[in-house]
Amino acid sequence: MELPIVTVNDLHKTYDDEEAVRGVSFQIAKGEIFGLLGPNGAGKTTTISMLTGLLEPTSGSVKMNGEDLTSNSNGLKSKIGFVPQELALYPTLSAYDNLIFFGRIYNLNGKVLKERVAEVLEIVGLTDRAKDRIDTYSGGMKRRINIAAGLLHQPEILFLDEPTVGVDPQSRNAIFESVGKLNRAGLTILYTTHYMEEADRLCNRVAIVDQGKIIALDTPNSLIRSMGGGLLKVGLLNGKLKSVQKESLKLSTIKDIQVQENQLIIRTTRAQEALVSVLEITSKLDATVTSLEILEPNLETVFIHLTGSKLRD
Ligand SMILES: Nc1ncnc2c1ncn2[C@@H]1O[C@H](COP(=O)(O)OP(=O)(O)OP(=O)(O)O)[C@@H](O)[C@H]1O
Ligand SMILES: [Mg+2]
Repeated sequence: MELPIVTVNDLHKTYDDEEAVRGVSFQIAKGEIFGLLGPNGAGKTTTISMLTGLLEPTSGSVKMNGEDLTSNSNGLKSKIGFVPQELALYPTLSAYDNLIFFGRIYNLNGKVLKERVAEVLEIVGLTDRAKDRIDTYSGGMKRRINIAAGLLHQPEILFLDEPTVGVDPQSRNAIFESVGKLNRAGLTILYTTHYMEEADRLCNRVAIVDQGKIIALDTPNSLIRSMGGGLLKVGLLNGKLKSVQKESLKLSTIKDIQVQENQLIIRTTRAQEALVSVLEITSKLDATVTSLEILEPNLETVFIHLTGSKLRD
């Protein structure tokens, strides 16, 4: 097997007394789009900061192409493109001049720099706006210039931290297109998001993260398939949870049931059929149903099944 471009082993990060990342391990293969999907505070930015060498791990290791990121950082960092959640652009300068400025930081100069700026503007679809001042850009267009800046030095791997948050639909589509095009041209991408639709659509593999840990890691299709025919969430008055769970587990349409607070989270083979049977059971046991929800199998359902909560409120 080809050496993974990134190998993360048992990564931990503690801020003061808070453990933001608690033992994360995964590998990213060359040429893949690898997703970190998780809610606010899951530890995505902290993880990406350690992977790009901006933040020292409390323990654990990050290897790029088999080399330790901490010990030989300069050579390795030139292979990394990083687009943070927020990046300062000069508002009174044009997009073109901003990119020239960032290119010089990467030691690009002269004709090579100008050509490269033209190329990255083309990639993010903003060539015709290049001479306009940044303060005339929408939030989404600024985000696309951030991505362009991260591409100037032709990295081997691009880290994108929630690139579509707060972005208008037009720029969101432009970002999806750029990501797809770059990946088809051979670029490896790590993409963090709390939108399950994006993880599903863009990523070859997805690590679902919550509270500093990876709780599931697979292709979107396999993760979704593991949900079978979808979830039922049945709220019950306390006291009947256990008995309804026990009876329901006898049904062939039910794979497993978790009890979370006052709800049963039921993984089914066929949600509609299972629902009818569960309601027969609640009525037989004289249990009061306080809420009822059928959830289609998708990455959000995987998250709910594993944590009991939603990715977003
Ligand atoms: N510099 C810091 N000092 C102290 N605590 C921090 C710091 N940065 C992050 N944290 C805490 O670490 C946890 C993980 O934060 P992180 O920013 O990595 O999450 P995230 O998944 O990127 O969230 P978001 O979706 O909101 O960007 C949070 O509880 C956060 O409050
Ligand atoms: Mg973040």
